[in-house]
Amino acid sequence: PKTTPCTRTLLSNAATAYLTSQTRGTFTPLTPYLSPNWTYTENNSPIASPLTSPTTILLKPLTIAYNRTIYDLDACATYTEIIAPSTQAPYVLGVQIRHSPLPPSSSPPTTNTTTTITSIDTITTTPKSWLFNATSTLLHAQQESWLPIPPAQQDSRDAIRAAGDAYLDMWSDASAVNRVPWGTPCTRLEGGAYTGTGSKNDSCRVGVPVGGGQKPNTGRRYVIDVEMGSVSVFCVWEHMMNAADSHEFRLEKGKLRYIHTMTSCGDKVCRL
Ligand SMILES: *[C@@H]1O[C@H](CO)[C@@H](O)[C@H](O)[C@H]1NC(C)=O
Ligand SMILES: *[C@@H]1O[C@H](CO)[C@@H](O)[C@H](O)[C@H]1NC(C)=O
Ligand SMILES: *[C@@H]1O[C@H](CO)[C@@H](O)[C@H](O)[C@H]1NC(C)=O
Ligand SMILES: *[C@@H]1O[C@H](CO)[C@@H](O)[C@H](O)[C@H]1NC(C)=O
Ligand SMILES: *[C@@H]1O[C@H](CO)[C@@H](O)[C@H](O)[C@H]1NC(C)=O
Repeated sequence: PKTTPCTRTLLSNAATAYLTSQTRGTFTPLTPYLSPNWTYTENNSPIASPLTSPTTILLKPLTIAYNRTIYDLDACATYTEIIAPSTQAPYVLGVQIRHSPLPPSSSPPTTNTTTTITSIDTITTTPKSWLFNATSTLLHAQQESWLPIPPAQQDSRDAIRAAGDAYLDMWSDASAVNRVPWGTPCTRLEGGAYTGTGSKNDSCRVGVPVGGGQKPNTGRRYVIDVEMGSVSVFCVWEHMMNAADSHEFRLEKGKLRYIHTMTSCGDKVCRL
């Protein structure tokens, strides 16, 4: 059966409602968008009753200093990066929100009454997370330029996803390094650590695994934005305490330009 196509308006309204919810620490602004059987996952763990679970990050009001969303109109999904560097309880979050297209009888998805969110999947990093420093993350994220890529220079959905997959395969596969479309300059914001020095020679190959043989990065979930040249991948970081991991990649003219990572080891301090 035909379905109403996913629109940027629908995705944008829901992502904005999510940000409002996170700012206030209540699900209320999001409620009109949630389908009856929506699921909630935090750091790779399903949470059965997110509206009342005291551990849910959404129930903590955050003062958000930075947010940026990418849009996947094919998968009807968004990924939002959120930086909330408070001195008391700093957080950096990645949030993938998935929608189901509306059935044909529904109104066009431009109103507040669309109930289309099927899942909210969050990676929540805190001072225990890998290389965490929200102040530094904010500083570097604000200095980068994530502008839409002109249509003639856009890479394909498959190429963008393949770049992310090749990078994440380097831990388990020694040959994957040769499939990564390394760009120059390229900078990696890994937690709060930045590989960039401001040189036009900056490279994202700094400190990447060599030789393969480690446990793989499994359970990958993708949000792909062709206009932004970006893919968000959530996965299980098996070689580091089975951590919950978020990697976002941006390609420009077929080459890696930016990588952002968030890696949470739950209640434990992340260690190699
Ligand atoms: C939620 O309900 C819709 C419509 O009935 C169905 O298509 C979808 O598979 C369900 N999703 C889950 C996660 O159960
Ligand atoms: C998210 O970022 C946009 C600018 O990109 C800003 O206008 C908006 O107020 C921010 N939202 C929150 C909740 O901070
Ligand atoms: C959706 O809700 C927001 C906030 O309540 C309101 O500002 C906006 O006008 C509404 N949009 C539509 C299409 O109803
Ligand atoms: C976090 O980063 C900021 C900005 O780079 C820096 O001033 C601060 O010392 C860092 N904090 C820690 C604990 O490393
Ligand atoms: C960049 O690398 C080239 C070739 O190795 C070198 O000649 C040049 O000095 C480098 N530039 C900077 C700014 O580091």
